[in-house]
Amino acid sequence: MEWDNKLFDLNWSQEISNYDQKLAAAKKLSIMAKNGDCIGFGSGSTSFLAMKELAQRVQKGGLNITAIPTSNEIAMFCNQLGIKTTTLNEKKPDWCFDGADEVDKKNRLIKGRGGAMYREKLIMSNAKKAYILVDKTKFVDRLGQNFAVPIEVVPNAYISVKNRLLELGAKEVTLRLCGKSKDGPVITELGNYILDAKFDKIEDKLENQIKSIVGVLESGLFVGFNIEVIS
Ligand code: 5RP
Repeated sequence: MEWDNKLFDLNWSQEISNYDQKLAAAKKLSIMAKNGDCIGFGSGSTSFLAMKELAQRVQKGGLNITAIPTSNEIAMFCNQLGIKTTTLNEKKPDWCFDGADEVDKKNRLIKGRGGAMYREKLIMSNAKKAYILVDKTKFVDRLGQNFAVPIEVVPNAYISVKNRLLELGAKEVTLRLCGKSKDGPVITELGNYILDAKFDKIEDKLENQIKSIVGVLESGLFVGFNIEVIS
């Protein structure tokens, strides 16, 4: 029997919110890939659609790319779709793409509704350019207007980190819980928790202020990256 690596139903696209706009952005992105590119693949539904578009080009035999995935989930999908993967320890990405929860006029982002912001930021900070794929609902006048800032924290520090975030001006900090019954914390790929911190005002310096709290791995606030937004 041949090796069967098909574990996932990759046809859940129709359940994605704002599907048509996300697909349009994904299609624009996919035609930008060139042979030999090493590309950081983001996480979330829009990145998933972009990955599927790229996979079609790969499967037709016309495109030879290597992906650096930002989550185990995207890595498994790439594997199933026949897209070669590598890691940051082997290769530097030429560019990357990703989704976002909010984008403001200065191209600052809030990311991490899927909880993958650490690997997403790691890849983005190693790529010369990031293409951010969004539907129209993601554009905001004020960063933080619709979403809290997700923060990945080491479990034994989550109360102390929460209190430091309140001191930094967060008006509400909640521990992200999983599933419909909300009976336990969401656990990240690295075994950490996620705090969601609501801020009325987000200045650029907040990213570093959050990062410097002991017990924080990374936040979903992305400031100062070389970003082109595709919608
Ligand atoms: C995951 C992310 C996603 O890119 C972000 O949540 C946007 O997701 P979607 O494309 O499903 O709207 O940051 O950690």
